Amino acid sequence: MSTAFRAFVVNKTEEGFTAGFKELTLADLPQGEVLIKVAYSSVNYKDGLASIPEGRIVRTYPFVPGVDLAGIVAESSDSRFKTGDEVLATSYELGVSHYGGYSEYARVKADWVVPLPDGLTLKEAMALGTAGFTAALAIHQLEKNGLKPQNGPVLVTGASGGVGSIGINILSALGYTVAASTGKSSEHDYLKELGASEIISREETSAESNRPLEKERWAGSLDSVGGSTLAYLIRTTKYGGSIAAFGNTGGPNLNTTVFPFILRAINLLGIESVNCPMELRSNLWRRLASNYKPGHLLDQIGHEVPLEELPQALATILKGGTRGRTIIKIS
Ligand SMILES: NC(=O)c1ccc[n+]([C@@H]2O[C@H](COP(=O)([O-])OP(=O)(O)OC[C@H]3O[C@@H](n4cnc5c(N)ncnc54)[C@H](OP(=O)(O)O)[C@@H]3O)[C@@H](O)[C@H]2O)c1
Repeated sequence: MSTAFRAFVVNKTEEGFTAGFKELTLADLPQGEVLIKVAYSSVNYKDGLASIPEGRIVRTYPFVPGVDLAGIVAESSDSRFKTGDEVLATSYELGVSHYGGYSEYARVKADWVVPLPDGLTLKEAMALGTAGFTAALAIHQLEKNGLKPQNGPVLVTGASGGVGSIGINILSALGYTVAASTGKSSEHDYLKELGASEIISREETSAESNRPLEKERWAGSLDSVGGSTLAYLIRTTKYGGSIAAFGNTGGPNLNTTVFPFILRAINLLGIESVNCPMELRSNLWRRLASNYKPGHLLDQIGHEVPLEELPQALATILKGGTRGRTIIKIS
């Protein structure tokens, strides 16, 4: 096995911050039971933050970001995995405090590894990645809290982004009427092709208001945005409806009242993908390979770029400019 390989490394020293490609060896990789030859990774908002000095994602430097990876087991000291197995890994400390997926080889803990489910290729797994898993987790939680297609329309905010695009495509295939809120007028046709039947402007869903309650509109929602958009969703969710909140691209603060909770019995569901227990995680990955698998995963949502274009892809997601999912071809 070749021991020298390419990785995207960020570093912060007294001289400043650097980000770029470096040659590493297997001895540079952190401890773990499973060595993976990485085939694909992807770009998430968190990876964008990991690539800039003020991002507050990376705990120690030098570091290899990339919260998602999919590839083939090269070596394993854990009996659950053997050389040649196709696997994926996302979440936990990967790409945050443990070297991640922007590297031709990754060594990870066996407890973080998910066997590639039947029905997904390695590339499809990374078209989904953390974004797809989060969309699946959010929809699962909404349905667990009573959401059904006949309850009414579901609004997806930050719609043209990774979680939003995948969420729309899954929900519409499950029979929901889906509305999409976007700040990009150029993406209306794309969102309709994914299954949105109504497009709402970001202006409308992020407007501030002093009214604690507004007309009941949404049976459920997937919220990438947070801030004033989450406050809008709380004011406009129908009686007994639920909001799955997982993002903060529009800001971390929330200004609301208790009235929608105590007068309309709405549910605000916090969605956290990183520490989701493995049993539910594996279950949701199997669903993403079957009834949750987005019909437009590779033809519309995911687009592949070579590893050399990773820096531009990271800069684009930080500007909110990504459509769908960027898949990084690693080796
Ligand atoms: N809780 C978790 O476990 C978890 C897991 C994954 C992701 N997340 C979070 O979920 C969010 C979405 O992730 P993602 O991977 O889908 O990111 P993404 O691909 O960058 O999508 C985010 C979308 O939000 C919208 N947006 C961007 N800037 C905005 C602004 N200033 N105000 C309002 N909307 C804005 C844009 O969509 P439009 O242009 O269409 O409006 C953008 O495409 C991020 O905050 C991410 O950190 C959380």
